[in-house]
Amino acid sequence: MERIEVLFSEQEVDRRIAEIGAQISSDYQGRDIHMICVLKGGAPFMCELAKRITVNVSLDFMSVSSYGSGTSSSGVVRIVKDLDEPLEGKDVIIVEDIIDSGRTLSHLLDIFRKRNPASIRLCTLLDKPDRRVVDDVNVDYVGFRIPDEFVVGYGLDYNQKYRNLPYIGVVKFD
Ligand code: IMP
Ligand code: MG
Repeated sequence: MERIEVLFSEQEVDRRIAEIGAQISSDYQGRDIHMICVLKGGAPFMCELAKRITVNVSLDFMSVSSYGSGTSSSGVVRIVKDLDEPLEGKDVIIVEDIIDSGRTLSHLLDIFRKRNPASIRLCTLLDKPDRRVVDDVNVDYVGFRIPDEFVVGYGLDYNQKYRNLPYIGVVKFD
């Protein structure tokens, strides 16, 4: 059995989310934000983040599965559940749990840009910059930059487990 070693405690994660929320609130003063959550991993983060934002926020959800097998994503995504609302003229923030290779987001950005939003920014709880293989994914808001380790909690899973942990941990097999 694997064990989970705490990387960022519940308090640390909550504090960081409050900071990002304050930053976004100030950046979007006088505008409305349309937040898009990439399911499933992005959901706990988006809920907590939305609570910390003081301008109007609307929420929508997208579910994708990436083609190909193995642990690394091919980035060619199949839309399992599309957004309910159009993006035309909206100030969009895409909310992700983690950006790894960046392939998934690169593909999603292509899809979303064609829908003519007024703007698109990216917000991720975790970023593994060393793993990036695409150069068109610029992250605007990052919770924590982490080294190349497999993490769980706060939406992130290992075989669908641990999404409900209120902290972020590293999976250890020993
Ligand atoms: P990529 O950026 O296209 O490589 O894929 C990112 C997706 O891979 C994330 O949305 C997660 O679902 C998954 N992923 C990448 N790294 C981790 C990790 O450390 N723990 C859990 N899921 C991960
Ligand atoms: Mg994800």
